[in-house]
Amino acid sequence: MSGHGTPIPMISHPCGPLTGTAEVPGDKSISHRSLILGAMAVGETRISGLLEGEDVLDTAKAMRAFGAEVTDHGGGEWTVLGVGVGGFAEPGQVIDCGNSGTGVRLIMGAMATCPITATFTGDASLNKRPMARVTDPLALFGTQSVGRSGGRLPMTIVGAADPTPVRYEVPVPSAQVKSAVLLAGLNAPGKTVVIEKEATRDHSERMLAGFGAEITVEDTDEGRVITLTGRPELKPQVIAVPRDPSSAAFPVCAALITPGSDVLVPGIGLNPTRAGLFITLREMGADLTYENEREEGGEPVADLRAKYSPNMKGINVPPERAASMIDEYPVLSVMAANATGTTMMGGVKELRVKESDRIDAMARGLRANGVTVAEGDEWWSVEGLGIGNVPGGGTCESFLDHRIAMSFMILGMGAEKGVTVDDAGPIATSFPIFEPLMARLGAKLLRNNRSV
Ligand code: S3P
Repeated sequence: MSGHGTPIPMISHPCGPLTGTAEVPGDKSISHRSLILGAMAVGETRISGLLEGEDVLDTAKAMRAFGAEVTDHGGGEWTVLGVGVGGFAEPGQVIDCGNSGTGVRLIMGAMATCPITATFTGDASLNKRPMARVTDPLALFGTQSVGRSGGRLPMTIVGAADPTPVRYEVPVPSAQVKSAVLLAGLNAPGKTVVIEKEATRDHSERMLAGFGAEITVEDTDEGRVITLTGRPELKPQVIAVPRDPSSAAFPVCAALITPGSDVLVPGIGLNPTRAGLFITLREMGADLTYENEREEGGEPVADLRAKYSPNMKGINVPPERAASMIDEYPVLSVMAANATGTTMMGGVKELRVKESDRIDAMARGLRANGVTVAEGDEWWSVEGLGIGNVPGGGTCESFLDHRIAMSFMILGMGAEKGVTVDDAGPIATSFPIFEPLMARLGAKLLRNNRSV
C-alpha cells in the first residue's frame, strides 16, 4: 500500500565508519511464495522469518480473501491453514496488491485455474506495469482476463473452470511469469511444462518440490525445462525464510564506500540465481567475504562481511548475469560511481519495467549528484569518479520504488555532500527496518530533517 501517504523526504549525509551486525529482514521472494503455497496446501504451514514489509502483508491479506487462514503470531512467526490446490474461494472484494508485481502476478497464477473470478489492483506504480506477460500464458489454460489498455491493472481474471495443462516458453527472463504459470499448472490435470532460456530465481521450483509436488528441472539445448504434474496434494511445510540478499545489498554497499567500515550481515540467502551482485562487487575489488557457509531450509546461506574498499574498479558486467542480480543494478550503479573507470551494464531491458523505469530513475538521480551516466534501451553505463569523489548535494525522485530510494541513501553516505530523496515511504514495501538498521551501523539518515 505504499505511495498512498504523504511523501517522506529523507537525506543521507556522509558519515563515520559503519560497524556492527546488520540483521536484514526475510527474503521477499520466498516470503510471498511461502504464503501462497501455504494457502494451496492441505493443513497448517508454519513460517518463521517472514518479511513483514507492505508487499508481503498485502499477499497475506490476499490469501485470506481467497479463503486461507493466515495468522500472525508475532516476531516473524506466521501460520497458514491452506485450502488445498483448486480450493480457493471467490474473494468478496477487490484484491489490492499495493506496490508488488511479485504478489499480483503470482496470485493471478495461483487463482487462474480455479472456477472463480477476482479483480486485482495496486498503487500508481503497479497499475502502470505490464500484466500481459502473465495473462497471455494464463489464457492458454483457458483463463480470461479484462484489464485496462496495454494489459494494465485494475484487471479482472476469470479462472478456467476446466483448465488444460500448457507448454510455455517464457519470452522474457522473469521468475514472476515462470512462477505464475507453474502455480496455475498446479490445478491443471496433466503435465505443465515451462521453458526458460535464461535461468531466473528458482525459489518456486525448490518450494514446490518441498511441498511435495512432482516437479523436474532439466538443462537442455532449449533452455531450462521445468515439468510439473498437476493436481498434487500439497503437504504443509515448516519454512525458515532466509534473510534477503537484495536487502543485504544496501548495508554491504554502504560499508564498501564508507571509510573504516566493517559490517557483518548474517544469514543471507545465496541461491546462485540471486547472488550476482556479490560476485560483481568482488570482481570490482570489493573486500567482501562469505563466512560460515551453510544450507538452511534447502537454500545456501552465509554470513557476509563487507569492509571499506577504496580501490574498486569499473567493470563490464556480463549480460548473462543480469537475471541473478536484476534488483541490484540500482545500488550497483552507486558502487560504480565510487569506483574508478567505467562500469557497463548490458542485457538489462527488464529494468525498464520494474517498480519504476530503474535505468531512467537512477540516471536522473546520479546526474543530479554530479555523476555521468549513458543509457540505451537495454544498457547503461556509469563513469566512476573514485571513492569519496561523488559531489552529491542533489535531490532525487524515488518514483514509488523502494530500491531507488535506498540506493540514493547509500549514494549520500559516500558523497561529498548529502543526497536527498523526495519520498522514502516506499522503502517500507521490502525493508521496513532500513532506517533504524542503518542508523545503528552509524549512518546519518534524516527523515523530514529529523534524525532516525
Ligand atoms: C521476483 C522476480 C523478479 C524480481 C522481483 C521478484 C520474484 O521480477 O525483480 O523483485 O520473486 O519472482 P521479474 O520476474 O519481473 O524478473
